[in-house]
Amino acid sequence: MSGPRLTLTAAGEDFDTAGAAAIAETIADAPTATVVVATGRTPMGAYGRLARDLPAGAGSALRVFQLDEYVGVPTDDPRSLAGWTRRSFVDPLAVDPHAVVWLDGLAEDREAACRAYDDAVAAAGGLDLAVLGLGPNGHLGFNEPPSDPSSRTREVALSKASLASNAGYAPGLDVPRSALTAGLDVLLAARRVVLLVSGRGKHEIVRRTLEGPVTADVPASFLQRHANLQVVVDRDAWQG
Ligand code: PGA
Repeated sequence: MSGPRLTLTAAGEDFDTAGAAAIAETIADAPTATVVVATGRTPMGAYGRLARDLPAGAGSALRVFQLDEYVGVPTDDPRSLAGWTRRSFVDPLAVDPHAVVWLDGLAEDREAACRAYDDAVAAAGGLDLAVLGLGPNGHLGFNEPPSDPSSRTREVALSKASLASNAGYAPGLDVPRSALTAGLDVLLAARRVVLLVSGRGKHEIVRRTLEGPVTADVPASFLQRHANLQVVVDRDAWQG
């Protein structure tokens, strides 16, 4: 591979603009692209910017896949990642929520729910774009360390680092302890990956991700082998 395309920005608006532009590139090429979109703090500004800058309806034919979901949390719960995906990306881009492939964290048979998700990815011909954040421990989605590149969509117990980070998403509410996550296998097979990383707290992990050994202990490090990776990173994360 030729190495990732690295877009280094100032923190704040410049970062959001660059993130939005990276996503808009795929939409311009393929308005019906299949995309998996992360929640978390990092991409929110980029999604807002994208919704403002795209011509009305330009994103509405995207085929969106949820990245991860807590187990046992209804979609109308403030902690639900489906709800967050809907508020931040699906609704602002006017994507039909019925056309989104959701991860069902309420399913009694969660293994079957995961297989249904993978079947939907396969039926769609795989993912054109994965828009991902970087976990404090190098996770992608909730592929917690250690995760092999062949990890399938599955239920995972959340690590201490993730629990601590997630606690900030819904202050005052209990943090769910387990989640369903799209597998590393489908994420790494996406034809294009945009990894968004911001803030000083991500300095060490972004360097380990891009410059350290490729290892299951830093699941995002497998992206070093991806042929079409764009990393949008702000100076706070890049320089520490
Ligand atoms: P953050 O989360 O964007 O809130 O830092 C990233 C992640 O945990 O994947």
